[in-house]
Amino acid sequence: MPLFDWYFTGDTPSRHYPRFRLSKQSADVFDELVDTGGAVVTGRRTYDITNGWDGKGPAPGLPLFIVTHEVPEFVPPQEVPYTFVTDGVESAIEQAKAAAGDKYVSLMGSAVPQQCLRAGLLDEIQVDVVPMLLGGGVRLFDHLGTAPIKLETIRVVDAPGITHLRYRVA
Ligand SMILES: NC(=O)c1ccc[n+]([C@@H]2O[C@H](COP(=O)([O-])OP(=O)(O)OC[C@H]3O[C@@H](n4cnc5c(N)ncnc54)[C@H](OP(=O)(O)O)[C@@H]3O)[C@@H](O)[C@H]2O)c1
Repeated sequence: MPLFDWYFTGDTPSRHYPRFRLSKQSADVFDELVDTGGAVVTGRRTYDITNGWDGKGPAPGLPLFIVTHEVPEFVPPQEVPYTFVTDGVESAIEQAKAAAGDKYVSLMGSAVPQQCLRAGLLDEIQVDVVPMLLGGGVRLFDHLGTAPIKLETIRVVDAPGITHLRYRVA
């Protein structure tokens, strides 16, 4: 949970999730992400860990696409449309882009962003860095091959307890 303190230790409520109290800088970054999002793609593990967000999805109103080898037998009643995609990440991105229109398709977890990077489908990377070192766990940037992937910095926001980094994949 210390990774998520920055959601609750400020004095500015998110416009979208008023129970989140962020610093003003983080609230601006967070709300902009929600404002500009059009659809979300995630892998099955994140979906399972969150219990399918109890049908509410990871972001209000945004359609969710879950990449998996097998559609679950039980899916909670949904407030936003869930689509289980069993024919790969490229298909999931294509469907999510169609749903998002001119807005962003956001990716969650690590398996989907890694596959998208390898396939040349990822345009931008937003990472929120908390000053803490972890000794293990799922690595966000892994299985990317040996060739360096060049990034261009779009924005750095140094907020209390968190640094928001945004890059364009060159
Ligand atoms: N810090 C944050 O904000 C944040 C946000 C989200 C997630 N997370 C963390 O990220 C971790 C989860 O990420 P992850 O990368 O381990 O798992 P993931 O991407 O959520 O899910 C991986 C699973 O998705 C399915 N999948 C992925 N690619 C596929 C493909 N091409 N075709 C078919 N199925 C495919 C497979 O599941 P099946 O074979 O079972 O179908 C695979 O095991 C968790 O630790 C979670 O807590 C952190």
